[in-house]
Amino acid sequence: MAANPLFKPFSFKGLNLKNRVVMAPMTRSFSPNGVPTDDVAQYYKRRAAADVGLIVSEGTGVDRPASLNDKNVPRFHGDKELAGWKHVIDEVHSVGGVMAPQLWHVGAVRTRDPDWAPPGPYDSPSGLSRPDKPFGEGMSEEDVADAIRAFADAAAAAKALGFESIELHGAHGYLIDQFFWDGTNVREDAYGSKELTGRARFAADILKEVRKAVGPDYPVIIRISQWKQQDYNVKLAHDPKALEQWLGALVDAGADILHCSQRRFWEPEFEGSDLNFAGWAKKLTGVPTITVGSVGLTGEFIAAYGGEASQPASLDELLTRLDREEFDLVAVGRALLQDPDWVVKVRDNRADELKSFERSAMGVLF
Ligand SMILES: Cc1cc2nc3c(=O)[nH]c(=O)nc-3n(C[C@H](O)[C@H](O)[C@H](O)COP(=O)(O)O)c2cc1C
Repeated sequence: MAANPLFKPFSFKGLNLKNRVVMAPMTRSFSPNGVPTDDVAQYYKRRAAADVGLIVSEGTGVDRPASLNDKNVPRFHGDKELAGWKHVIDEVHSVGGVMAPQLWHVGAVRTRDPDWAPPGPYDSPSGLSRPDKPFGEGMSEEDVADAIRAFADAAAAAKALGFESIELHGAHGYLIDQFFWDGTNVREDAYGSKELTGRARFAADILKEVRKAVGPDYPVIIRISQWKQQDYNVKLAHDPKALEQWLGALVDAGADILHCSQRRFWEPEFEGSDLNFAGWAKKLTGVPTITVGSVGLTGEFIAAYGGEASQPASLDELLTRLDREEFDLVAVGRALLQDPDWVVKVRDNRADELKSFERSAMGVLF
């Protein structure tokens, strides 16, 4: 390979990145009562200063009573919260960084904290946390409209604060993904359908309102996944045609960049081709895509929650695919959580200094 393709600049719709590395969104729960602190700002600033091309923040809650299931996850609404985020983006900008908040609604995913509950009922398409598992009430049409408004308001706030882009969290079995999935969306109104494109209406309506809120020239990313935390083997789209229709609906509604979440980036999406999820998404829609999943590490992230450590792994396969332009950007999660200097170490061929990922890193803001 002539030059490392990770270090080619990327420009798209006013988003100018010095390289192809994206910090993957990672919930940290270090924002007491939803307000990001200076520690959080310094955590992101360290990654920006060490040449991460684009930082996507941890998931941050939109303005619905139960958008979050953890009191120490940051919110993206309210004066104190947005002042905290202003400090974050100012610190990131002070060292030349570029950042997008990940706008999040957890939907029907219960809190793990026995001493805390969200200040309102959980939202979900149909009162199901997984197929056939009742959990609260399904959202009314007014609730749906208010949730769409909440995402658009957060996007407008992000732009006003100076963030270069926003990412909608449409993956991993949270609210937007609960609408995509026929296992959790059995609505009989305009937001439910036997067809995936019909169940994509909630995401599409969010994208359209976000677009109105931020204008035509502001880059909007949506993160999507076939897999769900409720079931790793689920696929929303079983073949390229279904994938094209689903993603086409999102792009038509205003998505500029598709962030295609896999747990292992090298796994083929469909039989008969070694293209991964981001590879197919780019081929079928023509828009830029972000890949993710165990980049530079031996083990995947769900096992990391269970305590499994991961060792540094070769980037050769990733670089070959990036060089072939199967996707445009590469998100890195745990390797950057563990080590703010991961990008510069890779760039400068300091492979012997790359760190293993230890679960204990999840409890610290390095
Ligand atoms: C501690 C932790 C928190 C995470 N939180 C989020 C999140 O808030 N939003 C999201 O979309 N993904 C989240 N993820 C998934 C990561 O963005 C990423 O997709 C995953 O870790 C795979 O990348 P990796 O193998 O490089 O770690 C989280 C992962 C970890 C390890």
